[in-house]
Amino acid sequence: SEDTKALFIIFGATGDLAHRKLYPAIYRLYKKGMLSESFAVIGTARRDWSDEHYQEVVLDSIEDLIDSKEHAESFAKHFRYQSHNVKDSEHYHTLKELADTLDEEYAIEGNRIFYLSMSPSFFGTITHHLREQSLVTENGFNRVIIEKPFGTDFDSSKALNDEINDSFDEDQLYRIDHYLGKEMVQNLLAMRFSNRLIENSWNKDSISNIQITLSEDLGVEERGEYYDKSGALRDMVQNHMLQVVSLLTMKKPASFTTNNVRKEKLAILKALKDPKVTQDDKTEFVRGQYAPSEDGKTKGYRQEEKVDPDTLTETFVAGKLTIDTDEWRDVPVYIRTGKRLSEKTSRVDIVFRSTESDLFSDQPTLLSVLISPDEGIELTLNNKKIGPGMHLEPTQLSNLRSEDTVKDSPEAYEKLILDVLNGDETHFAHWGEVATSWKYVDQIRKEWDNMTESIPFYPALTMGPKEADVLLEQQNHKWIFKG
Ligand code: BG6
Repeated sequence: SEDTKALFIIFGATGDLAHRKLYPAIYRLYKKGMLSESFAVIGTARRDWSDEHYQEVVLDSIEDLIDSKEHAESFAKHFRYQSHNVKDSEHYHTLKELADTLDEEYAIEGNRIFYLSMSPSFFGTITHHLREQSLVTENGFNRVIIEKPFGTDFDSSKALNDEINDSFDEDQLYRIDHYLGKEMVQNLLAMRFSNRLIENSWNKDSISNIQITLSEDLGVEERGEYYDKSGALRDMVQNHMLQVVSLLTMKKPASFTTNNVRKEKLAILKALKDPKVTQDDKTEFVRGQYAPSEDGKTKGYRQEEKVDPDTLTETFVAGKLTIDTDEWRDVPVYIRTGKRLSEKTSRVDIVFRSTESDLFSDQPTLLSVLISPDEGIELTLNNKKIGPGMHLEPTQLSNLRSEDTVKDSPEAYEKLILDVLNGDETHFAHWGEVATSWKYVDQIRKEWDNMTESIPFYPALTMGPKEADVLLEQQNHKWIFKG
């Protein structure tokens, strides 16, 4: 269809994200015929690469996805490389000429997608030049995809947003939160609002507590330089975690339009009660840092490359969130995320209240939504134990998507890029959500930045410091997922 015509200009084309996610995602769309032949990509970065080399890099990045070598090569031919200094206005002239040439060559009709996948400190400069040096077209759409991190706190994200807004309007901006592109995250709204059984029980009368776990078994890998300045709170909680919280608790939107969905999500973020962060066990947020594993085979965070050996940066966060509305005030939302935990899993556990009758001492009904790497739903109910008497045993109804289904379903970046081509902003973070999330996590950050003595440690490949268990025990709850 016509609207899939586009010229992509990728800033940060030699980077890891482009290689791991963007090129494969664009190729998947191409393979499925969701991208017309009227597309081209200009990759830019500081390094001096030739078109041929760039095309080889692209081919390398899609190696596992190639069925036909010929088809893949004709795909790669759409890619050009332009070495670029983002601060030099002359370079934007060269870029514009190339863009205009490709626009004509591929009959793209002015549709442009500017993909900013590099240090956010350049976002303002780049968007300014794109406007000033007329890379923005008159005849087609002009959309800007922005990678995280969108600032490091509210003030810096506001400054960044203001700078970008000088050149582009909010409705041209697509702030990536790749969690919003995941099938099982998108499924949350489908599941909540299409099943009477679930919809009618999705409230404080039926739900005891909500638990979200985004755990990783990997450490910081080669990202020490970025991560040591960021920490888990900024890296995972401000964005992915709070987005998932809002999708789990937002009111039913009037329709699935971008504005209606965003409005309800924002209402939740705005209703978050100020977190209590203290050094004693009254605290609602706890942090941790991985120490070497018990068997000594896995190093601790302080031993990682490009990490300050005395660093107090947290690699683990657990928290108790309160949504201060009549609907949710009595339902704690527990969150937990960290590096070098015992397992890679993203999941949601909804713990229902027990029946509170004298008939049974029932276990709470449990609904688990597995986001990744397993995708599916598990429901644990009480059943009568076979035999005499009225005794119970838990029964698990499990619907996990098969490995093939998961493998064949569209990857998050693929879906999000398609949304950008179609001009659908629903699965992107609006400025209001980003701003509100930063204001929330800034309060936690501020307290932790004042706690300069030490940080709780946890052995690598365990589920975090004991403080994270105490957090729930205080409320007579416990983590469902034990790792
Ligand atoms: C990114 C973080 O946003 O999300 C990484 O910067 C993290 O530190 C990643 O590893 C986790 O995403 P996923 O899809 O692997 O759960």
